[in-house]
Amino acid sequence: MNIFVTGGAGYVGSHCVRGLCDAGHAVVVFDNMVSGHREAVDQRAKLIAGDLGDVDLVDKTLAQGGFDGVMHFAAALDVNESISKPLHYYRNNVVNTVSLLERMCAHDIRSIVFSSSCATYGTPPSVPITEDMPQDPISPYGRTKLAIEWVLRDSTVAWGLGATALRYFNAAGAAADASLGEDHDPEIHLIPRVLQVALGQSEGIKIFGLDYPTPDGTCVRDYVHVEDLASVHCAAIETQAESQFRCYNVGTGVGVSVKELAAAAREVTGHDIPASPAPRREGDPPELYADPTKVMTELGWQPKYADIRKTVETAWNWHRAHPNGFTAA
Ligand code: UFG
Repeated sequence: MNIFVTGGAGYVGSHCVRGLCDAGHAVVVFDNMVSGHREAVDQRAKLIAGDLGDVDLVDKTLAQGGFDGVMHFAAALDVNESISKPLHYYRNNVVNTVSLLERMCAHDIRSIVFSSSCATYGTPPSVPITEDMPQDPISPYGRTKLAIEWVLRDSTVAWGLGATALRYFNAAGAAADASLGEDHDPEIHLIPRVLQVALGQSEGIKIFGLDYPTPDGTCVRDYVHVEDLASVHCAAIETQAESQFRCYNVGTGVGVSVKELAAAAREVTGHDIPASPAPRREGDPPELYADPTKVMTELGWQPKYADIRKTVETAWNWHRAHPNGFTAA
């Protein structure tokens, strides 16, 4: 297949681009390079540096590409930041997706795999989370992802779009060969922050909230390996039918608390990783982990990484090999 990938120079996008190339697909990456990295883009893919807000460039690229489908990763993704900058999030995530879909419709491209999020559930009534649970996001970020899901659903009815919303839990880890990994600036995510301590780049981590209604008082998340995300994207685009909306929870099904994550990282790195208490971070639900039965059954997806230590180990190998990320390897 010939696939147009927005945000393909980012963390999840770049691993998926590699997976698509490995599976023999032709890939054009479209990325504004604000948080993406040129070095992260597989050599077999073509990279176009452009913003989805540049409608003419998107239009021209789609007109010339002969694309069979789109994978849409490009988005602003900091839950906490979305609370203070909602307009930025609605423009970047919702408005730009609508204009991408308009161009897809104009060029008769009727297949999209969309990076949705477990953040669309807000604080779920129970865990593990199944796809039929109410979607009631508690942050502007989560609301932008839910809004896009509705745009996709309506488009499947109106113009025959085939859409798959992959509701990721926490993307984690790095390529098994340590050649690709996570490199955000600023870094907000727990695993890279923990590993920065082990690398001696920071003194310790702060645990945002120890009074959550969870077994050890810290937030519980489902850390799904980024290579497993890549394989589910391939399965989704390869099985997509027109005029159909599908949604899947993509997680391991295992909840890991912040304290447990820090303990796993201590085991993997052999470093103390001091942790100190800090107030709760706004927008954080207490406990999120997936019931991945639907994606396993319908797409035949089988995650390779189920043990958090193995996932952290791949991230550790990447960060050790690239202590300053892509730019100064
Ligand atoms: N955390 C800390 N200290 C840190 C960083 C994080 O205690 O220095 C905690 C957070 O409070 C949270 C957990 O570690 O409980 C994981 O935090 P991350 O920032 O790594 O990830 P999030 O769960 O906030 O975010 C992820 C994705 C989002 C997605 C969200 C759904 O990055 O895209 O899950 O809640 F929307």
